[in-house]
Amino acid sequence: MTETPETHRLFFALRPDAAQRTALADWSAQLPPRTGRRVPADNIHLTLAFLGDTPAERQDCMERAAGEVRMPPFELVVDRVGYFARARVLWAGPTQPPAALPELVEQLNRALAPCGYVPESRPFHPHITLLRKARPLSVEPEPLYCAWRVERFCLMVSESASAGVRYRVIRDYPLGG
Ligand code: 2AM
Repeated sequence: MTETPETHRLFFALRPDAAQRTALADWSAQLPPRTGRRVPADNIHLTLAFLGDTPAERQDCMERAAGEVRMPPFELVVDRVGYFARARVLWAGPTQPPAALPELVEQLNRALAPCGYVPESRPFHPHITLLRKARPLSVEPEPLYCAWRVERFCLMVSESASAGVRYRVIRDYPLGG
């Protein structure tokens, strides 16, 4: 019998700093009860590329390839709330995404392709999931605003624990130049 290789469930993401993550989690905490299952502050992120279950060899390739991305830091303003009905996700995102954001995704997609990464066929829709299994909002929510200077992106791993899923940073990629 052949052994199944060990894999890690990986994705590249932007991670707001701790203060911004707390602000976003506080925003979702003031929503009416039973609106959905809140993403804890520590797990809050904006997915750039979802790699899924990845064996170690491919992970090495992806980790190296992501180092090829060249992009100066940029400002990101997250100021709107949206709802994906099919996925039942309530999210926060930018009304006006800076051009650097899709460009970063494009660069990552290109860099990762030789490692066997197949990008999403759907257009990139920048969002930060705040509630899962969510219902649409029935009342006008508090305004949401969170802005930060994006100076890095990161490779994250999704781990299941008894307390629920936890997303952990495995590698940081500073932007610059
Ligand atoms: P999200 O960004 O809409 O929340 C880890 O699972 C992260 O990767 C989640 O944030 C998740 O969705 C995102 N993701 C993107 N595509 C996915 C897919 N096909 N399956 C699971 N998660 C996916």
